[in-house]
Amino acid sequence: MVPQGSSVRVDLAGRSYDILIGRGRINEAGEHLRRLCPGGRAAIVTDTHVAELHLRTLDAALAEAGIQSTSIVLPAGEPTKSFAALETVCDGVIAARLERGDAVIALGGGVIGDLAGFAASIIRRGMRFVQIPTSLLAQVDSSVGGKTAINTRQGKNLVGAFHQPVLVIADTALLDTLPEREFRAGYAEVVKYGLLGDSGFFNWLEGGAWRRIFEGGPEREEAVRISCAAKAAIVARDETEQGDRALLNLGHTFGHALEAAVGYDGARLVHGEAIAIGMRLAFDFSREQGLCTGQDAIRVRRHLEAVGLPTRLSDIPGGAGTAASLLDAIRQDKKVARGALTFILVRGIGESFIAKDVDPDLILRFLDCQLGHDI
Ligand code: GLY
Repeated sequence: MVPQGSSVRVDLAGRSYDILIGRGRINEAGEHLRRLCPGGRAAIVTDTHVAELHLRTLDAALAEAGIQSTSIVLPAGEPTKSFAALETVCDGVIAARLERGDAVIALGGGVIGDLAGFAASIIRRGMRFVQIPTSLLAQVDSSVGGKTAINTRQGKNLVGAFHQPVLVIADTALLDTLPEREFRAGYAEVVKYGLLGDSGFFNWLEGGAWRRIFEGGPEREEAVRISCAAKAAIVARDETEQGDRALLNLGHTFGHALEAAVGYDGARLVHGEAIAIGMRLAFDFSREQGLCTGQDAIRVRRHLEAVGLPTRLSDIPGGAGTAASLLDAIRQDKKVARGALTFILVRGIGESFIAKDVDPDLILRFLDCQLGHDI
């Protein structure tokens, strides 16, 4: 098969890797794995939904390259990011007698990628790991950069490790089967790259490319490429989030508080929707602080609304609680350093910065106002 599509290199010295992007690229999985793990075998970690849609294709691609594989199929959904599921993956990989040089392949969205990556980081003190993300969110964000984790009863992503994959295959045709709500939520993370550092990319999306991204035109592949390139550049300069990598959290401090407010009930609010509201809040808070123009804040809100993403607290079915409870959730977030609130704020579209020491009273008043005057 003639390879189609583009690739992005994540430059991390001895741990550098490629992200292969394009329609049909899952079919190349076997040949790349044979090159990266000569003589190796693989364990595919996936969920029941994805297995039904794509496992056969991946199995065939591996078999064609002579790679033996075993599959570990888990229930779909956030509860799978658990200690129990981690044990299932570890048991499955060890029972299949895979060695350190063999590969764990994550075939799925963010939940499967985070879980399988964490398992790969600890089984035999670290196995090779390949990401084949099947959601837009995973293709542009969670599969790239090596963050892996499970949730605990205290919160999300609290136990995990940085463990870089040896390869990411972002097959954009796999997104054709995504439910529209999930695709749209993943699109919020695409917009994020424009808002945090690339106004030209935002202009392109806003100018109409977004429609063709949703329809599956070549713009979809281009948007995944630009997003991955933006993330790769940030990860290359700050792999373990000592500085700039925090910019990727634009909209996330507010967004995580909203997810906590609905008890992580995906029927009411999925992650990307929370991030859309969070990014709108970050722009409006920045505008209120005199950091960014009202015109930019309005453009962000209008674009998110044009694609059908929520932007207001009142868009959340059942509401978002009180300003005090949201502030409390913000304080629980990992982005709090010794009590001081850290937010990603903006000086305009494409001009984000890390604001440490944001006054909690300002946030409380801002949220109270948002809840009271939401229109
Ligand atoms: N999703 C944010 C990061 O990878 O740092």
